[in-house]
Amino acid sequence: MTYTVAIVGAGLVGERLVSELRRREFPIRELRVLARSARTVEIAGEMFEVGVAEPEAFEGVNFAFFAGTEGEKGAAVQLAEEAISRGAVVIDNGSDFRLDDGVPLVVPEVNEDALEGHNGLIANANCSTTQMVVTLAPLAKAFGLKKVVVSTYQAVSGSGRSGVEALEDGREDVYPKPIARNAIPLIGSIGDDGLSTEERKMVLESRKILSLPDLEVHATTVRIPVHTGHSESVYVEVERDVEMAEVLEAFGEAPGIVFSGDADDFPTPLEAAGDPGTFVGRVRVEGSTINYWCVSDNLLKGAATNAVQIAESLVKARV
Ligand SMILES: NC(=O)c1ccc[n+]([C@@H]2O[C@H](COP(=O)([O-])OP(=O)(O)OC[C@H]3O[C@@H](n4cnc5c(N)ncnc54)[C@H](OP(=O)(O)O)[C@@H]3O)[C@@H](O)[C@H]2O)c1
Repeated sequence: MTYTVAIVGAGLVGERLVSELRRREFPIRELRVLARSARTVEIAGEMFEVGVAEPEAFEGVNFAFFAGTEGEKGAAVQLAEEAISRGAVVIDNGSDFRLDDGVPLVVPEVNEDALEGHNGLIANANCSTTQMVVTLAPLAKAFGLKKVVVSTYQAVSGSGRSGVEALEDGREDVYPKPIARNAIPLIGSIGDDGLSTEERKMVLESRKILSLPDLEVHATTVRIPVHTGHSESVYVEVERDVEMAEVLEAFGEAPGIVFSGDADDFPTPLEAAGDPGTFVGRVRVEGSTINYWCVSDNLLKGAATNAVQIAESLVKARV
């Protein structure tokens, strides 16, 4: 069985979707790339006649990966229903539908079961949330979670091409302050509750993915001048006292986690960039608290890899 696949968006995530679909050998009959304007471009080493994202472009499409912009005028809000009505399953990288009832928000290592009975639209989680829940899931299963406090160190490619231009070319209209040689503790905009958009995503999406609607989560999200790879310092309170050995075992056996138990073998974004895994290091245990550091490529596990894994899960379930 092979599939006709459309990618909406030819930006950083669109490009990684092409490379991940190829690297993971997703069974593709035809691969279409759609964006706002038609052109011929090389994406991940392949030439594409990029088509305009419009309803008719989804005729015959089995899987449509959306990686355009968000909001009322964004690609998913405008076109996801058009794609679904033509028979496609939509996997959306944006935040428009993630918290909607009836829309599964899926990180396959954690909640693949949520795909059952989907209505054609599946949401991919926020990049910093994805790597965090991959690392929280084995702790939840082994010990039970009481409280999570996370601080992030997020790469500029998390803002797409414009974020990279802000770091590399000094583009000034992307972040509220210069990003080069700086750290900006605001990602998105601040709401009435004082949380930034990114912080609210981490709280609400983690609860939905982990099926822990009352989990106490406190997030501080920070943009730093790193090209690719988000890092997180995570503090977790669990339901009972734990030993280091059992925490290392939980991380060591968990799917999707690349883990070295050596205290001085810590992951960094420079090493994680280009790798689809979620790296864990600097684990510390005291009583019922666990501290650790995790790093993952925001464009891969944080976006494209997770989206392709969702499609693979659907293909597997149909067989
Ligand atoms: N970057 C990350 O780490 C990351 C992680 C998780 C999720 N996401 C989400 O993934 C999406 C894409 O992010 P990105 O980093 O790839 O952004 P990007 O580099 O800025 O690229 C955006 C692409 O979307 C296309 N596009 C925008 N509006 C469109 C529309 N209405 N119809 C069709 N195409 C449209 C643009 O087309 P043109 O080229 O024709 O202008 C461009 O190719 C966003 O929703 C983002 O929030 C990003």
